[in-house]
Amino acid sequence: MGEIMVLDIIKDRRSIHSFQEKEVDMKLLNEIFTYGSYAPTHYMKEPWRIKLFQGKGKEMLIWSILNSYLRMGMLKKDQDKTMASMKSFLMAIPHHAVIYFEKENDPVRYEEEYSAVCAFIQNAQLAAWELGVGMLWTITPYMHDANFYDEIGLDIEKDKIAAVMQIGYPKKVPKSKGRTPIDHKMEIID
Ligand SMILES: Cc1cc2nc3c(=O)[nH]c(=O)nc-3n(C[C@H](O)[C@H](O)[C@H](O)COP(=O)(O)O)c2cc1C
Repeated sequence: MGEIMVLDIIKDRRSIHSFQEKEVDMKLLNEIFTYGSYAPTHYMKEPWRIKLFQGKGKEMLIWSILNSYLRMGMLKKDQDKTMASMKSFLMAIPHHAVIYFEKENDPVRYEEEYSAVCAFIQNAQLAAWELGVGMLWTITPYMHDANFYDEIGLDIEKDKIAAVMQIGYPKKVPKSKGRTPIDHKMEIID
């Protein structure tokens, strides 16, 4: 059997949009986030924080998400069917990990923390892929809603949500969209 190469994992990992019902074992999730934590981090701040919603805990998160959509007018109170289908769609995802960090007032420090957290997320995604677990990195408008922060036990003045990761065993793996040749993105000055 050939060795699994990190280079293959980088290329083969896909964002997963549909998950099997089965939960991922907590030991495995711990391992995945531990790999995440080997991300580079200036001053060894290790700014990443995780709120992992699963099982009964998902009800609370999803309720807060729907409330936020209602407040923002992205959903209307009379759209019962849409609300119900959104709820069941989100409930079917085994784990939701809110990834956040404590805000820094200094803009350079803020960017350092934010960047390290993004590196953490990608490391975790790659480790997950190698271990057979799929993820979807999501950024949505409720991540700027103070009430949403409140409802899940965060404080928008102090905390910044970087992403909500949807996690589970993949049901379907999308085809790669490939990437633009990097020379289209690179300017060489020598
Ligand atoms: C910061 C960030 C936010 C993203 N937010 C979403 C999202 O909200 N919804 C979604 O379907 N995909 C989201 N994605 C995933 C991208 O759609 C995905 O990476 C892209 O389509 C390429 O597919 P691949 O990851 O399978 O290569 C996000 C990716 C990043 C890096």
